[in-house]
Amino acid sequence: MKRALITGITGQDGSYLAEFLMQKGYEVHGIKRRSSSFNTDRVNSIYEDRHESDARFFLHYGDLTDGSSLTRLLTRIQPDEVYNLGAQSHVRVSFDVPEYTADSVAMGTLRLLESIHQAGLPCRFYQASSSEMYGSTPPPQNELTAFHPRSPYACAKVFGHQLAVNYRESYGLHASCGILFNHESPRRGETFVTRKITRAAARIKLGLQDKLYLGNLDAKRDWGFAGDYVRAMWMMLQQDTPDDYVIGTGESHSVREFVELTFSYLDLDWRRYVAIDPRYFRPAEVDHLHGDPSKARRVLGWTPEVSFAELVVMMIESDLAELNRTLKGGPEAMRAAVGVGD
Ligand code: NAP
Ligand code: GDD
Repeated sequence: MKRALITGITGQDGSYLAEFLMQKGYEVHGIKRRSSSFNTDRVNSIYEDRHESDARFFLHYGDLTDGSSLTRLLTRIQPDEVYNLGAQSHVRVSFDVPEYTADSVAMGTLRLLESIHQAGLPCRFYQASSSEMYGSTPPPQNELTAFHPRSPYACAKVFGHQLAVNYRESYGLHASCGILFNHESPRRGETFVTRKITRAAARIKLGLQDKLYLGNLDAKRDWGFAGDYVRAMWMMLQQDTPDDYVIGTGESHSVREFVELTFSYLDLDWRRYVAIDPRYFRPAEVDHLHGDPSKARRVLGWTPEVSFAELVVMMIESDLAELNRTLKGGPEAMRAAVGVGD
């Protein structure tokens, strides 16, 4: 049985990847951060009691900012595959907490790679690189496109990416980087723009909210479905030779288009409800990301299965269903579901 270790297992991608690997018969180990409240919502459905003799899913406390925890877990678990998905992954927030972002994203990758190297582990390594690294470089972007990062997050991702390439070249580590364009799902964090829009529109439809404040509606992104993208991560680690791949749909849409599609699906006129709040503008914006995934198609045989329109509808329907469930739970459940932050 193959054994995988995932950092960021409690996040959107970590949860889809864990499910995918479990279905492939892997034993899955994940690193979760200590938090004062439960942070395992996204993996609760696959949680297994470790006392069961056939348990194949294990969570361990650890942190990318704590090298000793990484070394301890790598040595104990001896994984065949390591997926480094953990990160402070919000671009806007990275301007507010630049040091922490660099510590978890850049230095966290260094700590993990160096622990693997020092322990002499013969494992394969996946690095969650990002299309944000292209920043202001004009589209379409592929593996040969120059990086021009526009945020502390993107700068930290460039460091992590180059480091993974360096460990591959210096020590022969089987390290592959997936340069993933934006990917979303019903499990997307509520403060990323797609989920913010579908969740707010569903609340407006049910009469629970009357305004949605957004920033730059002109930014364009290449949005795909997270479930399709974790499949690509695994495919990269099954290759004989490690390499770097762009993963995207090859289509881009503006935030305005996302808003229009969401509100029109719910029979709402978005202009009545959406207002601009400059607080959501970024000190430096990334205007247009549009991936060219032809290498992944050619070498890995990977193609996305969920279209842009299907993704938007999937997210709206999920938010509507969740709200309806909460409404049935009465005022207390409603208060608990509001959440704060933007
Ligand atoms: P996400 O939902 O924000 O999940 C991030 C995960 O990292 C969470 O499990 C989080 O734990 C964990 N984490 C944060 N700080 C940590 C630390 N110091 N130590 C250990 N774990 C830590 O992000 P995602 O969308 O799944 O993305 C997965 C990875 O792909 C990230 O590296 C992201 O930067 C990268 N990426 C994402 C996209 C995208 O469009 N989704 C595109 C390109 C690259 P908590 O649950 O406790 O917060
Ligand atoms: N979050 C947010 N909130 N973004 C807004 C808003 C708003 O109210 N209004 C407009 N936007 C615009 C942002 O300015 C940006 O241009 C675009 O919507 C997308 O923002 P996010 O959904 O926050 O994602 P991102 O593109 O900055 O970053 C995501 O994708 C990267 C890959 O390209 C994250 O998942 C990163 O971790 C990932 O690396």
